[in-house]
Amino acid sequence: MTKRKILVTSALPYANGAIHLGHMVEHIQTDIWVRFQKMRGHECYYCCADDTHGTPIMLAAEKQGISPEELIAKVHQEHIADFSGFGIGYDNYYSTHSLENRHFSETIYQALKANNKIQSRNIQQLFDPEKQMFLPDRFVKGECPKCHAKDQYGDNCESCGATYSPTELINPYSAVSGATPVLKETEHFFFKLSECADFLRDWTSGQTVLANGQTQTHLQAQSLNKMNEWLGEDEEGNSTLSDWDISRDAPYFGFQIPDAPNKYFYVWLDAPVGYMASFQNLCTRLGLDFNEFFRADSETEMYHFIGKDILYFHALFWPAMLQFSGYRTPTGVFAHGFLTVDGQKMSKSRGTFITARSYLDGGLNPEWMRYYIAAKLNSRIEDIDLNLQDFIARVNSDLVGKYVNIAARAAGFIRKRFSGSLKAVENSELLQQLIAKSETIANDYETREYAKALREVMTLADTVNEYVDANKPWELAKQADQETRLHQVCSELINAFKILTVYLSPVLPKVAEHAAAFLNINALTWQDSTQTLPENHQINEYKHLMQRIEEKQVSDLVEANKQSIQAAATPESSQYVPVSEQCSFDDFMKVDMRVAKVLNCEAVEGSTKLLKFSLDFGFETRTIFSGIAASYPNPAELNGRYVIAVVNFAPRKMAKFGVSEGMILSAADKDGKLRLLDVHAGAQAGDKVG
Ligand code: MSP
Ligand code: ZN
Repeated sequence: MTKRKILVTSALPYANGAIHLGHMVEHIQTDIWVRFQKMRGHECYYCCADDTHGTPIMLAAEKQGISPEELIAKVHQEHIADFSGFGIGYDNYYSTHSLENRHFSETIYQALKANNKIQSRNIQQLFDPEKQMFLPDRFVKGECPKCHAKDQYGDNCESCGATYSPTELINPYSAVSGATPVLKETEHFFFKLSECADFLRDWTSGQTVLANGQTQTHLQAQSLNKMNEWLGEDEEGNSTLSDWDISRDAPYFGFQIPDAPNKYFYVWLDAPVGYMASFQNLCTRLGLDFNEFFRADSETEMYHFIGKDILYFHALFWPAMLQFSGYRTPTGVFAHGFLTVDGQKMSKSRGTFITARSYLDGGLNPEWMRYYIAAKLNSRIEDIDLNLQDFIARVNSDLVGKYVNIAARAAGFIRKRFSGSLKAVENSELLQQLIAKSETIANDYETREYAKALREVMTLADTVNEYVDANKPWELAKQADQETRLHQVCSELINAFKILTVYLSPVLPKVAEHAAAFLNINALTWQDSTQTLPENHQINEYKHLMQRIEEKQVSDLVEANKQSIQAAATPESSQYVPVSEQCSFDDFMKVDMRVAKVLNCEAVEGSTKLLKFSLDFGFETRTIFSGIAASYPNPAELNGRYVIAVVNFAPRKMAKFGVSEGMILSAADKDGKLRLLDVHAGAQAGDKVG
């Protein structure tokens, strides 16, 4: 078999958050693939790193009163501990805040510049005058211009789903200081992606012929469809791809752009370069030839495992960056879907935003989760659901009931009756059935059809268990003339267990290691699935390889995640905050609210949002505009009703419509729909509300 040289990566987790089971899906998927390639005898390296730059990390450090360097060093340790707890076997887990990464980021940038692919342009961006910094979209908040939900982020509304630019927000404020942002001009650098459209059309729809003669498409079919949407042309034949803004102004935690004072590389520029940097660091350590992997005409393979949310960066920006700076491009970008728990988005309040740490600290076996996730994964971009009841049932039935049990049922007899020695069983029909599946299952792993691979393995395990039930070793053991047969059957079972272990080893590396110790053999290669153990091979004492999952372990896990979140919750991190920050009684008393009778209510010409009220407050009549038109299509219906209004706001000019002399109270539901507050019969216009 041709020996392939392969570099594999998982997306680099941000260095300001804990690893959760969503991340784990990706790293488990990648790790299984890498372990499989290594078992096949290929030269395969698995590199990852923390993604350490950008505004959120800079501000998170500030909030904790430490430097960004301290924050990322602390998180690096945590991430490594979490991943190694789940048996993720990186060859290198590095950091984007490294000399190698600075070097390659600068080199790529300079090469793009020399290739005339970098352009400087002045843009207008929201600026926080108090904090003296430009604000990323996520750090500007305000009222949604579409549905008027309050406290929405600058790029999209979580209430109605609208997307917009931060300058469209009503009453915008800086999430950093609370100040009202102002528009300010600044120079930014752009990567001229629009000029890369031809290359990208070729690359995204292209494929590579591998050293072993097989072909690998660069993208999955679903990704390619998405890219084709992005790679379209307008009526004049111009690319619809936008150029990519790759610079950010100081203050910023990242790498300074050469010859551009106070300008930094945007975190997404140096993040994928982090793959190279991590690999370079590994090459230095192991004495490998970096250029063999990264030169433009490299014959090695490079694969990126990523989530569907970051496809744009990996299928467009990254290949274009590599191509136009003279490096090789990826062989394949493999995107997966998102993890849901019990059919819903992971939720902090439900306790289903499960951190890797809580799982490990709860004493749950990481290989249970590796198995369950693998049993759900295929090569397509589909979300995968962790159903907690199914998780318990599946692991207990498949791994404990079907697989581990095979060894447990045969080991005792071999040890006690045959002093641990096996009979030669190469002619066993049962084993030939298992061996026959070796290439099919290998192909499933190769093509990332893990669910299919594991279904095949469990079907084989069923066959083996049927064989046990048909031959009943426990009964053979009672019959003196069945000694040879008992030896034969149990030797077959031990060999069957070995073959199944090979098939499961990419998924269950720890169990496989313990199984190998029990079987008294070296670490397993894929080749071992096609061979039986020789006559007189000695096995060791069997120790139980895996416990069953108890319901309570899972309910405790959910509980633990509820608690840890309550302790950590900040208003900023929750999407819809049921309770606002504290307000003193004195603060409250400053607001003068009165009952008013609606004399007249009408739609406002030229506005889809506003209703114009003429209100009787007893002491005077006022005009107030209210943005509730969407909820009251027949405004005249409100005539004669009693409402509550704040009367001591300064009069406010409502664009061209007139001046509003107060604010009518209404209740906004989660979706931003507004409903007027009503007053019971008997109240008089002018009554004080409090
Ligand atoms: N730092 C960037 C990636 C840079 S790669 C050069 C980033 N980090 S992340 O921490 O937000 O996400 C890391 C990976 O985890 C991404 O591939 C993302 O898709 C994946 N996942 C995050 N949440 C997930 C789920 N709930 N389910 C599955 N994968 C998820 O993006
Ligand atoms: Zn909205």
